[in-house]
Amino acid sequence: MNLDDLKRQAAARALESVTDGMRLGLGTGSTARHFVDLLGERVRRGLSVIGVPTSEATRIQAGQCGIPLTTLDEIDRLDLTVDGADEVDPALDLIKGGGGALLREKIVAAASDRMIVIADDSKWVRTLGNFPLPIEVIPFGLAATRHAISCAFAAAGVSGEMTVRQGRDGHAFVTDGGHWIVDARLGRISDAPRLADLLAAIPGVVEHGLFIGLASTVILAGGEGIRVVEKR
Ligand code: A5P
Repeated sequence: MNLDDLKRQAAARALESVTDGMRLGLGTGSTARHFVDLLGERVRRGLSVIGVPTSEATRIQAGQCGIPLTTLDEIDRLDLTVDGADEVDPALDLIKGGGGALLREKIVAAASDRMIVIADDSKWVRTLGNFPLPIEVIPFGLAATRHAISCAFAAAGVSGEMTVRQGRDGHAFVTDGGHWIVDARLGRISDAPRLADLLAAIPGVVEHGLFIGLASTVILAGGEGIRVVEKR
């Protein structure tokens, strides 16, 4: 079975948690894309839900699938968000933002009663940090913000190279919110909650890809089958 099949299996399992009338956060990325696709099939067969997409890409896909959409300007809470992740640790803390949608993903997850993370089991790690940590920044004052981020890294006991993410056109990648992303290769983040707090306190940092305490369930699909891990 290839990785894409595993992602679809995880998405299908998450769909079992969706019931009629739910307000849903719709994630971004190749795994969440399967969920939106499968949800669309259910909607076309009569399921009544309303979705809030976490990116322009997901908004377009969900619209094409016929899923009724709204925004967090119109409603203030969601029942459930289903999204992918770049890394998941045993505390169910996450690194997200590989696809660049971390800001909207975090706003949507934080507005949800539950967040189910769907992934192939290669995303499961003992300690976060092998995947470069995305940090969404305001372009204004970038050198000062990078300096402050380095100080936060030192205070949290991590270090690593930082690069401004490039788009396909060779220029800085611009997020849906009009910001840039700095990717930090930290290797191992021994205290992710502390690093999350330190980064959140920097004025030029809009948001970072550490999702602490947001996921309630993780569905991991692997060669041996599906594993569901619930937050303790
Ligand atoms: C998007 O910004 C990300 O947070 C994705 O949710 C994450 O990168 C997982 O993507 P894949 O499902 O494509 O691995």
